[in-house]
Amino acid sequence: MKANVFRGTNRFGIEEVERPRARAGEAVIRVTLTTICGTDLHIVRGEYPVDPGRIIGHEPVGVIEELGPGVSGYSIGDRVLVGAITPCGQCNACLAGHLSQCGQGEGYRALGGWQLGNTIQGSQAEYVRVPNAQANLARIPDQLKDEQVVLLSDIASTGISGAESGRIRIGDAVVVFAQGPIGLCATIGARLMGASLVIGVDGDETRLRFARQMGADVALDYRQQDVVAEVKRLTGGGADVAIEALGTQQTFESALRCLRPGGTLSSLGVYSGKLELPYDAFAAGLGDHRVVTTLCPGGKERMRRLMELVRTGRIDLTPLLTHSFPLADIGEAYALFGERREGVIKVAIRP
Ligand SMILES: NC(=O)c1ccc[n+]([C@@H]2O[C@H](COP(=O)([O-])OP(=O)(O)OC[C@H]3O[C@@H](n4cnc5c(N)ncnc54)[C@H](O)[C@@H]3O)[C@@H](O)[C@H]2O)c1
Ligand SMILES: [Zn+2]
Ligand SMILES: [Zn+2]
Repeated sequence: MKANVFRGTNRFGIEEVERPRARAGEAVIRVTLTTICGTDLHIVRGEYPVDPGRIIGHEPVGVIEELGPGVSGYSIGDRVLVGAITPCGQCNACLAGHLSQCGQGEGYRALGGWQLGNTIQGSQAEYVRVPNAQANLARIPDQLKDEQVVLLSDIASTGISGAESGRIRIGDAVVVFAQGPIGLCATIGARLMGASLVIGVDGDETRLRFARQMGADVALDYRQQDVVAEVKRLTGGGADVAIEALGTQQTFESALRCLRPGGTLSSLGVYSGKLELPYDAFAAGLGDHRVVTTLCPGGKERMRRLMELVRTGRIDLTPLLTHSFPLADIGEAYALFGERREGVIKVAIRP
């Protein structure tokens, strides 16, 4: 089969590799649609380590091709969506409700639920093997097209979880820092959770436009104005919840400074180096603030719930799928996505 294989920093591309087979508890799906994640850019740039030879990608939509022993209730040919995070559903972390920190049968492991395109072969390929298939194959309702569900696997699950972890309440004022794919989905999530005011922050014209389209009442350009002061003005003293969706000191700190006392900072960004918490930004530790972090929730029940939101018309992510490429041209897709050319948000990849 053809697959996008990582070989080293800035060395990756389509290769002919052996097709996977389903072992006990696993399934093989024929991939009909997938996409590229910002995290995949970190991988190919050598900023997130994976082993050479790794097939990249963690957002598969496809058709069941093969079921291993022990997987029941599915048929060959079923259309399925698989989350970016594939928990085992049986370890202590999973059973305690921390599926993303799954230890693959052995308790907790930070990020342990993220296997596809990380610790096992991923989905930018004609076929992908799904581990713990019983917990991770989510059947796609007949009336939904691949394009309507592919972004649920990662960016929607993650972005919306930022709103859920922030425990947004009806009537809350929410600010979302960065309106990339993740931040835009956090904006969607804030609306779903009942925020009365959603403020999206970015510095890119296209993305600020998308922010309004996806439900932000106000879109602020951090290059043009003092965002913290403006959020305080718009909210009459501070946001109830600030969602961080970039992963930098600047956005983390601004999110904190935007909060009212008692507010929650819900962090989704991936940070590197040191993250500092200036005492004046959080009332010297006495402001009753909450800081929470979330890794993309996965598993078939999460995917089922997200697909229900699409089926009933509560959310529509198809506008975010701005470009489309055949798998054979994935190099071009990485270039366009990586350089954020042509107003790209997400690219559809068709094996
Ligand atoms: N928690 C998770 O499970 C999870 C999952 C996937 C990705 N992530 C992380 O989420 C973050 C966002 O991912 P993405 O794919 O949306 O990123 P992206 O790079 O596509 O988008 C980032 C956006 O931030 C904007 N920006 C840059 N500087 C800014 C500033 N100072 N203030 C406001 N906006 C600014 C950019 O214009 C861009 O639109 C990354 O750190 C990514 O690694 C986390
Ligand atoms: Zn991802
Ligand atoms: Zn587990």
